[in-house]
Amino acid sequence: MCGIVGVLSAQPAAPLMMDALRRLEYRGYDSAGLATVTGGTLARRRAAGKLAALQEVLERDPLAGMSGIGHTRWATHGPPTVENAHPHVAGRVAVVHNGIIENHAALRAELVAAGATFESTTDTEVVAHLLDREIADGVSPEQAMARVMPRLTGAFAFVVLVAGQEDLLLAARRASPLAIGLGDGAAFVGSDAVALAPLTRRIVYLEDGDWAVLRRSGVQVFTGDGTQVIRREQVSTVSAAMIGKGNYRHFMEKEIHDQPEAIAHTLHAVIDPGTGSATLPPPLDDALGVAKITILAAGTSFYAGLTARYWMESIAGIACEAELASEFRDRRAVLPAGGVAIAVSQSGESLDTLMALRNAKSLGQRVLALVNVPESTIAREADGVLLTRAGPEFGVASTKAFTAQLTAFLGLAIALGAARGHIDEGEALRLVIALEGVPGRVATVLEAEERYLPIARDLARARDVLYLGRGLSYPIALEGALKLKEITYVHAEGYAAGEMKHGPIALIDEHVPVIIVAPSDGWFDKTASNMAEVRARGGRVVLLTDAAGAEALGEGADHLVILPDVAAEVAPILYAIPVQLLAYLAAVEKGTDADQPRNLAKSVTVE
Ligand code: AGP
Repeated sequence: MCGIVGVLSAQPAAPLMMDALRRLEYRGYDSAGLATVTGGTLARRRAAGKLAALQEVLERDPLAGMSGIGHTRWATHGPPTVENAHPHVAGRVAVVHNGIIENHAALRAELVAAGATFESTTDTEVVAHLLDREIADGVSPEQAMARVMPRLTGAFAFVVLVAGQEDLLLAARRASPLAIGLGDGAAFVGSDAVALAPLTRRIVYLEDGDWAVLRRSGVQVFTGDGTQVIRREQVSTVSAAMIGKGNYRHFMEKEIHDQPEAIAHTLHAVIDPGTGSATLPPPLDDALGVAKITILAAGTSFYAGLTARYWMESIAGIACEAELASEFRDRRAVLPAGGVAIAVSQSGESLDTLMALRNAKSLGQRVLALVNVPESTIAREADGVLLTRAGPEFGVASTKAFTAQLTAFLGLAIALGAARGHIDEGEALRLVIALEGVPGRVATVLEAEERYLPIARDLARARDVLYLGRGLSYPIALEGALKLKEITYVHAEGYAAGEMKHGPIALIDEHVPVIIVAPSDGWFDKTASNMAEVRARGGRVVLLTDAAGAEALGEGADHLVILPDVAAEVAPILYAIPVQLLAYLAAVEKGTDADQPRNLAKSVTVE
């Protein structure tokens, strides 16, 4: 999604902003731009495409000034052209914006009727015109902001630069994220603390509906009704040193290889390494009082939730549903008193998940946030927080955050099961030991990365790929298909293996690779029958299994991958690794951009 930066510095603003925008590239974008105030007037440079294109423009036509705003745009209203790239300027006001101004059409009609001329088809431009009109009426930029904010509906964040004001930025947020950075005689604003990491780690997070006045000497924050408030300064957990690819080709490759560590750290956030006992964060700490768990998430986080449903039912003995946040958010779901919703999100900023969290609260549920970003909006709005310890994830395709979410969920299920008496001490210990063994098994899988290359070459050339799995392996089949289509643009579908005969079997012929996720668990024999059905129709089988599974079925597979033996309950965490590797290596084979695939955004802050 769009990336925002604003700088009030004692140094030239353009290089600082380009550097910050580079750190926001991971969010996904298709055009970019900067504006500064120099000699009292606004100057602007924009380009369609990646930041390299904007850099070329800047080299031809440098941008002076020590105060500025910058933006990477993920197109919503209008194509990714130079005209639609931010900043948008009306008179003396320049604006960069993330999210959607929902009532932009009505505002635009009103402004046009009053004589305004628009340069772009974006919703953003109305904000610049509204502010400029107020300032033209003789009020200060701050007063203009106070008047314009109540007129805007939607979920958004924006930053404003005003001609003639070299020591002023105005910033506002409603549902979309925005972080203010405090410097020594400098002030900054960015979409997240990652953008600001090399500039400052002193961060003030705006609350929903807040707007702020930034000057080099300090920041004032106001609520939507114009009341001045104090928002706490925090030291960001993100340091500049954490943001890099190391020796890897892509962030995604690095993040796949970060997983032994990410899983181990997350595990120890739930399970005490000394005693092996698991602890429960609120609102799950009243384990016996939890009537039902409703998991709310999108994309890969949703698949973590689907996996967790099996664990919550079988290990914790609690009724559990996993719901797509984008659907749940508007449902009048019937949920029991004493129910707990778990909002799962790597970024903690997915708007659908945030809205689903709010809906769950309005339906009487207490909410636990399972997020990877401690300062995120979802973390701040929940009743309790459990952090995945995956570290910053930059690849658009989520990898280490997924296995960290799975780890946290399994730890929670064990703790709940033990606290509710659904499993005895011995069973809890067996599961904890199995979970403790996962990072080592994951490392073993990663050491054999080369093993996946021939299969990945096959997938890169395919038109359609099917992923099949049953029970705990079903969400891994869904995740494998999502990974492949996201970064290789090869059409892939994940199916519950037993569902194949109800339709997708019609797709199978000798051109369709079928990836079967089948550890030798309680579902294995039935999955074996589904594999036989694929083979009978000439499908090319890639079998992901363990030694016992290979013994039973290996001969029938065109490609056989043997994974380390693990307890059935932890297998989803381990089997996530080969499906990630296959997608990544297929993307490298095809030459697609694994880190920033077309059309995708890392953190989806629109509806
Ligand atoms: C994962 O590979 C995706 N890019 C996407 O589905 C992602 O998981 C989804 O947008 C949810 O993001 P979140 O976890 O940050 O809420």
